[in-house]
Amino acid sequence: MATSGAILVLYLIAHMYGNLKVFAGQEAFDGYAHGLREIGYPLLPESGFLWVFRIVLLASILIHIYSAVALWARARRARPASQRYQVKKRVHRTYASYTMRWGGVLIALFVIFHILHLTVNVISPGGASDSPYERLVNGFQPQFWFVTLFYVAAVIAVGFHLRHGIWSGLATLGVNQARRQPVLNSIATVIALVVTVGFLLPPLAVTFGLVS
Ligand code: HEM
Repeated sequence: MATSGAILVLYLIAHMYGNLKVFAGQEAFDGYAHGLREIGYPLLPESGFLWVFRIVLLASILIHIYSAVALWARARRARPASQRYQVKKRVHRTYASYTMRWGGVLIALFVIFHILHLTVNVISPGGASDSPYERLVNGFQPQFWFVTLFYVAAVIAVGFHLRHGIWSGLATLGVNQARRQPVLNSIATVIALVVTVGFLLPPLAVTFGLVS
């Protein structure tokens, strides 16, 4: 869970940073998207690196989901059925596992929608386009406020997921000794906040007419 999660966190930071290129204009954003397909070329075929990267990403997502389901089942087995609905003392822990599980399901559904929307572009509010910049700008126009709202909800879910996931992952990797906890807690919060705000900026900027 922690290792696949770490790969996904690194991907999200890079993806969020790349998305901010939308503020540099169409040429910069489309050039960046094109550049991703050229990495390793001509040593690798065109988009070769991107496909290796996609396979690693997909494997990480599947391992992450598999581990989550396995841990969920293990946690259920560890508690006798008679006590299953009587966990009152550890409200915080129950709250965290609840948001992680259902937040995770929402994020997985969002990723499927998001790929169909901005990568494959078969869902194309505002019109399909070969230009990643145009796909983004078309899709978040004010009349598609509900698309923006869905993205905002999903990105906030990603933020909560990261906040707890980074903290929990660091514990799994054994670096959460008591004296380090305040620092690790701050690191998890700062990374989650930066990723959330960074992801929210492009869709909101388009919806509010700052990017067109
Ligand atoms: C809310 C702000 C976001 C924007 C504006 C955005 C934008 C984009 C765009 C334009 C693409 C297509 C890139 C291309 O075809 O060149 C893309 C792909 C993708 N995004 Fe996002 N994204 C956002 C948030 C997220 C989040 C929160 C996640 C994950 C939880 C995510 C996961 C992905 C994945 C997995 C792909 C497919 C990558 C590939 O082509 O292999 N994105 N995104």
